[in-house]
Amino acid sequence: MSHLLVTGGAGFIGANFVHYWRQHHPQDSVTVLDALTYAGNRANLAGANSVQLVEGDIRDTPLIEGLLRDHAIDTIVHFAAESHVDRSIHGPAAFVETNVIGTMNLLTAARAVWLADGGKPHRFHHVSTDEVYGTLGPNDPPFNETTAYAPNSPYSASKAASDHLVRAWHHTYGLQVTTSNCSNNYGPYQFPEKLIPLFLINALHGRPLPIYGDGMQIRDWLHVEDHCRGIEAVLHHGRVGETYCIGGGAELPNITVIDTLCAAVDAAFAADPALAARFPEAPAARGIPTASLKTTVADRPGHDRRYAIDETRARAEIGYAPARDFKTGFAATLAWYLANEPWWRGVLDGSYRNWVETNYAAR
Ligand code: NAD
Ligand code: TYD
Repeated sequence: MSHLLVTGGAGFIGANFVHYWRQHHPQDSVTVLDALTYAGNRANLAGANSVQLVEGDIRDTPLIEGLLRDHAIDTIVHFAAESHVDRSIHGPAAFVETNVIGTMNLLTAARAVWLADGGKPHRFHHVSTDEVYGTLGPNDPPFNETTAYAPNSPYSASKAASDHLVRAWHHTYGLQVTTSNCSNNYGPYQFPEKLIPLFLINALHGRPLPIYGDGMQIRDWLHVEDHCRGIEAVLHHGRVGETYCIGGGAELPNITVIDTLCAAVDAAFAADPALAARFPEAPAARGIPTASLKTTVADRPGHDRRYAIDETRARAEIGYAPARDFKTGFAATLAWYLANEPWWRGVLDGSYRNWVETNYAAR
């Protein structure tokens, strides 16, 4: 039996991980530490039984030391971060605070508690991104664990710094760490600032779909459940001190993702007449193609052109392979957003906490 501390467990990937872990490892205890920023929501954990959510900051070293001792934590899975590139362009300081200082303070607490008493078995797993490797040309080989770091945005620079700190705490102090660098996630509970949920919700409201530049930037799309399985594989089979690249095997230009999304929304409205009544502002409610909302806007400054992952090491060493192709993963994601309208309406209108209190207080 393991005792997990999941930082950022009320955010998109962290919450999916908590649900995944409760389902597959019900014997383990799970404590979530989350500052509940705009991106973190209590309701993301609704239905995850026996999970204790502690509202707190990863920069708060004494708080974390107390949690590690009081909850007998032996495994930290570290998701907490500022995660949106566009926000990092407008306000980089928060990214350094949380992603760099926060990770350092978390490592400091883990070292103080885990290594002080002779070093009981423990694991610090750090969740990072392929964006630390920079950008690829069309014919470059995909990133792997030996690719040199070359971050281009304040977000990826702060994640790169955190990766280096994790590595240093292993080599210098002997902390038992692993790191995973994954590609773009999508799936339930993703805050509607990232491409897929933003465009879905804009499509339902008849708002423009803002395509940065020529829309030919390439990302490797990873369904969040596959990512959770990848982290599980690293925790169970990964070598301490190693990093593992986790991808979705779905390298697609943004425009293809957007066209898939538009066609899927049109098909959903055609198949279910009730959607037109629920979302009368959607072009699809009037038989107009959702693609009519596509709008080209100025490109993101420093926009990375292409990310791609070579997951040979993860396949060979820990038995990881993505199970969901983009088509089925995206269809499931669209269905989730259509079925969970109160969730994203609450996120958008700022009444999220009230909605949570009304709907989930009794659980
Ligand atoms: P998210 O923005 O949805 O969630 C981040 C969570 O961290 C939120 O719940 C937030 O409240 C919490 N948080 C922020 N600052 C905190 C602090 N100082 N103390 C405690 N909690 C804090 O992010 P996500 O998309 O779920 O990403 C999770 C991790 O995965 C991040 O480390 C991110 O860099 C990494 N990652 C994400 C993607 C992706 O596609 N979303 C891809 C690669 C890597
Ligand atoms: P995003 O979801 O922000 O993830 P990341 O920047 O970490 O890859 O963006 C995914 C891609 O979609 C990226 O190339 C930027 C592009 N994009 C748009 O074209 N328009 C948008 O409004 C957003 C949010 C993203």
